[in-house]
Amino acid sequence: MFNSTKQCSCKLIFQFQHKLKQASRHATRACSLKVKRAMNDPLEERKYDTDQYDETDSEITFRFKDLTTKLCDPDHLRSKPDVADLKFGHIFTDHMLKILYHKKLGGWQKPVIIPFENISLHPAAKVLHYAVELFEGMKAYRGVDGKIRIFRPDMNMIRMNGSALSSGLPTFDGMEMVKCLNRLVEVDQEWVPHSEASSLYLRPTLIGIDGTLGVQQSDSALLFAIMCPVGSYFNGNDDSISLLADPSYTRAWPGGCGDKKLGSNYGPTIRVQNKAIEKGRQQVLWLYGPDHQITEVGTMNIFVFYQNEFGDKVLVTPPLTGLILPGVTRQSILQLCEQWKEFRIEQRTVTMGEIVKLQKSDKLLEMFGSGTACIVSPISSIEYQDEIINIPTIQHPNPIFRRIREELQAIQYGHIEHPWAQPID
Ligand SMILES: Cc1ncc(COP(=O)(O)O)c(C=O)c1O
Repeated sequence: MFNSTKQCSCKLIFQFQHKLKQASRHATRACSLKVKRAMNDPLEERKYDTDQYDETDSEITFRFKDLTTKLCDPDHLRSKPDVADLKFGHIFTDHMLKILYHKKLGGWQKPVIIPFENISLHPAAKVLHYAVELFEGMKAYRGVDGKIRIFRPDMNMIRMNGSALSSGLPTFDGMEMVKCLNRLVEVDQEWVPHSEASSLYLRPTLIGIDGTLGVQQSDSALLFAIMCPVGSYFNGNDDSISLLADPSYTRAWPGGCGDKKLGSNYGPTIRVQNKAIEKGRQQVLWLYGPDHQITEVGTMNIFVFYQNEFGDKVLVTPPLTGLILPGVTRQSILQLCEQWKEFRIEQRTVTMGEIVKLQKSDKLLEMFGSGTACIVSPISSIEYQDEIINIPTIQHPNPIFRRIREELQAIQYGHIEHPWAQPID
C-alpha cells in the first residue's frame, strides 16, 4: 500500500517536472521567435506584448515593477558641464542602471538604479576574451515644453534583443527595459541639457560575465545603462564631412554580424578610421565586394539623392541584406520621405561606379550619413582610387538633408507632437 502510494506520487512529480520544463522551454522559445521575427522585418514597428508573461518569468525577462533605486549621496552629485564644452562620451551622469542575469539563479535578477560606479569583473569574463558584448545608442531630448522625450526607444530594444540572440546572451522584454531607462533618465533629469544643440546620450550595454575561458555561451550576463550629455557630434551642424573609400577594407560581410550592434564590429574599424584621418579625411566610406558597393559611412547609414535618366529625383539607401546596421534614423528618414511623396525612394545596392558616373554627369545631388549621434551629416567629398569626388550636398539652397534633420529635430524637441517621441512621464 505504502509502496504503491510512493510510486504514484513519484510518477506525478516526474510528470509535473516534465510539464514544467516543457512550459519553460516553450516560453523561452516563444520569446526568441518573437525577437527573430521582428529582426527579420526591421522595417516593421513592433512592440512586445508585456502582458503575456506571468510573475515567475525571470528566465524570459526582468520587470520594471521590481526596480529599486539607490540615490547618490547629495554631496557626491557632480556639477553639470557647460554644453558648449561637451565632447562625445567624456562626462557621465550620477546614476546607472544594472540588471544581472544568472542562469543558475533562474535568470534575470531585479533591476537596480545605483550611483555611477566601476564594474568589477572576473579576469576570465567572456566579455574580456571573446568580446561577448553588445550595446545600443539612443538619446533623450528636453523639449520646448520642458518635457523629456526619448526617440523611438522600442526600436533600439528590438535591435538590442537581436544582437543578444546573435551573441548567445539572454533576451528580455524591450518595453520593460524602456520603462527602466525612462526611470533612469528621470532620476538624472537635470543632466538632460536645456538646449536644442545638445541631448542626453543613453548607452545600454549587455556583456557576458561568466568567469570561464571556454568559447561557449555565457550563463551570466550584466545589462547596464550609462548616460552622458552630448553636444553636436561633428563640429557645427552644417559642417560637411570628407570620406576615404578604400576597397581594401571591409566592415561587414554576408553571413557575418554587421547588422548587429556588437562591440566586436567597432574595435577593428579604429585602424581604418586612423588611416582616413592621416589622409586628411574625416570618416571611412565602407565598401563591399568586387563592384565596390557602398554600405555605411563611419558609424552611420548612408543616403544618396540623385536625378535618374528620366529626370526623376531619387533617394536611395543600401538594403538591409545583413551588411548594414538597421538604423533607427535610417528607418525614420525612409518613413518621413515616404509621407512627403515628393521623390522616389529606393533601397538597393549602389556601387562606387554609379556614384562616379552620377557625379560626372552632374546628376549626383546630395550624399549624407544618418545616425542617432549626428541625426544627418552631409558629405562633401570622397577620396576613391586616388581621385577626389566632390559632392555638392551643401551647395543647394534647400537641400533635403537639412529638411530631414529639421523635421526629425522638431519631433525630438517636441515642436511637433509625434508618436516617435513620447514624453517619458
Ligand atoms: C555601424 C552603424 N551604422 C548605422 C548607425 C545608425 O544607427 P541609428 O540611426 O540607430 O543610430 C550606427 C549607430 O548606431 C552604427 O553604429
